[in-house]
Amino acid sequence: MRKVGLGDSINGSILARTIFTLDNDVLLTAGTVLTSRVIKKLLDYGITEVYIEDEMSQGIAVPETIKEEILTMVKSQVKAMMTLPEIKTSVDVNKVTELIEKLLTEILKSDDVIINLSDIRSIDDYTFSHSVNVSIFSLITGITLDFSRESLKDLGIGSLLHDVGKVMIDKKLLDKPSVLTLSEYEEVKRHTFYGYDILRNSPGIGPMAHSIALYHHERVDGSGYPYSLKGRDIPLAARITAVADVYDALTTTRSYRKGMHPSHVIDYMYSLSDKHFDSRILKAFFQHIANYPIGTGVILNTGEKGIISEYNHVMPNRPVVRILFDAKGNKLSRYIERDLSRKPECRIVDVWDF
Ligand SMILES: [Fe+2]
Repeated sequence: MRKVGLGDSINGSILARTIFTLDNDVLLTAGTVLTSRVIKKLLDYGITEVYIEDEMSQGIAVPETIKEEILTMVKSQVKAMMTLPEIKTSVDVNKVTELIEKLLTEILKSDDVIINLSDIRSIDDYTFSHSVNVSIFSLITGITLDFSRESLKDLGIGSLLHDVGKVMIDKKLLDKPSVLTLSEYEEVKRHTFYGYDILRNSPGIGPMAHSIALYHHERVDGSGYPYSLKGRDIPLAARITAVADVYDALTTTRSYRKGMHPSHVIDYMYSLSDKHFDSRILKAFFQHIANYPIGTGVILNTGEKGIISEYNHVMPNRPVVRILFDAKGNKLSRYIERDLSRKPECRIVDVWDF
């Protein structure tokens, strides 16, 4: 199984994972042949990537940290909650707590906390998927940093609702594909205050969640907003959410740009260590993120090309690679599984979209 961009090149491939809509309906069942008509239907729906089963990726299993059904169910409930008219004044704490408990139980159950969110979603559902992903990433970081169960719950709620203030902002402004004018940007930035007000007005939602809504755009060097706070003046939970928020935003495909590959985002975010992001949090977070998710196409320094077939939890840059093409670009008649942890001279130099 591997994840590929949706297009004519995969015409005839078999869909490897069922695709759900955020209204909890099945859009397409695993096993369906991707004909040009089916591909068009998915593209019309705003889907840009799918998992396929093909000869090159045969036998490669992509693990699910959180079961697809649970993820879809939580996302659809977040969508239902965020589209209620009452959301502009307050949030139902019982509903949010229930969703966070579900996510937390799933995460704690998984012995493999290398995150590989299957992440097949419609571009139109970005807001809801993004909220849930940020919450999952924040919870995993909180677990790594030894947060208590009670604090994890508060961290989960706050990170899930970090952008709730955006419900007060004109949707056209939020979806604008071109650069915002200065005054438009000032208005978008106000979502931090709006969110803070909504959460303060929600009985049962605690101060950790309030501070996440207010401070998740602060940066440790003081270059963020709304108050240009620095370092530890920014509450820990907001520093965690900031990392999770940026990681998910950069890896996601939007209507106006393709998502960056995790390995590139990790390099980029590390380059901003102790500038935008708290270095301790980056380390805790990336400990659980697959920089080369299983099924990713990679190029080796030898010029050979292949796909990741197994993780290496101890040395994440040295996974097992299934070599499919030689240095001259010729397809091998039989692939070779190469364990990079046993081949120190061999390393990954880039990712490859195929
Ligand atoms: Fe935000």
